Amino acid sequence: MYGCIAEKLGHSFSKEIHNRLFDYDYELLELSPDELDSFMRAKPFKAINVTIPYKEAVIPYLDEVSEVARKIGAVNTIVHDNGYLKGYNTDFSGLSALIEKNSISLQGKKVLILGSGGTSKTALAVAESMECRAAYRVSRDKKEGCITYAEAERLHRDAEVMINTTPVGMYPNLYCSPVDLEAYPKLCAIVDAVYNPLRSKLVYDGQKKGIQAVGGLYMLVAQAAKAAEKFLGQAVSTSEIDRVYRELLLLKTNVVLIGMPGSGKTTIGKRLAEELGADFIDTDEEIVKREQTSIPKIFAELGEAGFRRIESEVIRSVSMMQHAVIATGGGAVLNSVNMELLGENGRIYFIDRPLESLIATDDRPLSSNRADLEKRFKERYEKYCASCDAHICIGDDVNENIKKIKEEFCHENIGY
Ligand code: S3P
Repeated sequence: MYGCIAEKLGHSFSKEIHNRLFDYDYELLELSPDELDSFMRAKPFKAINVTIPYKEAVIPYLDEVSEVARKIGAVNTIVHDNGYLKGYNTDFSGLSALIEKNSISLQGKKVLILGSGGTSKTALAVAESMECRAAYRVSRDKKEGCITYAEAERLHRDAEVMINTTPVGMYPNLYCSPVDLEAYPKLCAIVDAVYNPLRSKLVYDGQKKGIQAVGGLYMLVAQAAKAAEKFLGQAVSTSEIDRVYRELLLLKTNVVLIGMPGSGKTTIGKRLAEELGADFIDTDEEIVKREQTSIPKIFAELGEAGFRRIESEVIRSVSMMQHAVIATGGGAVLNSVNMELLGENGRIYFIDRPLESLIATDDRPLSSNRADLEKRFKERYEKYCASCDAHICIGDDVNENIKKIKEEFCHENIGY
């Protein structure tokens, strides 16, 4: 057996990654802490990955531990050769590869590493190997070898690089960040080990401030590739890692459509979902399903504020989906939290149809006549422009419109 052991593996991408690299079967195996001992003694595997919370706990069962893994004190890959177990740490290579791919320099820099678990130790070893000036692990509680968040803010406001190894902001807790970036005005790069969502709030906040900020998907793929090399004794090239990263990224990213009522978000979205083999979600339809009543009735009973509250709840839940095409209501853009949530797993497209070809309809309470429609257009146009990752000018040919979005989605370098 090849696979991965952990206490919880519900949202692991590892099987999908290994299956794209080589043709061995790769199993995800959840083990409770009391099952670990008998599993490690029985050694029923050819090679395995190990993840939270067992990266340190497996070490006593190993006959040999690589120098990097020993120095870090954490093992994420074990190879079984005739009863002999050797442990490695390929997270080290994975994190190094993520930093190098994005041309982030740690040399001479002050680095803050958020978190105190196994991955924080790996990040410390990577920062040292890249000749940082100083690196500090930051923990919520007073822990050996770590400083607290209050100390970090007081003594290291001048930190230049931040590496997050905590699970804050990770699925299902979107829209949470471990720090307020205002406290660190000198930051020039942020590296987040979180890959689900693809663009965590920390990464999002960093990008908004113009700081280079990257998520952890490439690290995940690169560590898996290095593990696969150990499994089979066969090299995996950087271009293979890039290929798998790109495939996975397209498979996980949502396409989010924003724009005026009547701009064609639903029609385009349905067709696009079919062509991409993705699920289609219309947030207005979700609202109607959830409330068991029509949108005009919700406006009549709860007012616009009541409708917006429900809309935001629906958006929070659909933002966690992956590989979906999500058509939003025209007013979703009015709340910036909606846009940030949708942006955590999605690429946001402004479907920009000219005002002349938009038509007012009775079933849309805020744009049921021409004057209201024009008012909404004026109020919102700048917001659509500022909230999107890509601005698509829409014409009358649906096929052409879909082609434009697909081309942008598939060929643009959309990494996070
Ligand atoms: C609204 C647009 C509608 C719907 C609701 C509010 C708006 O969605 O969410 O009537 O504020 O413009 P469409 O843009 O899909 O018509």
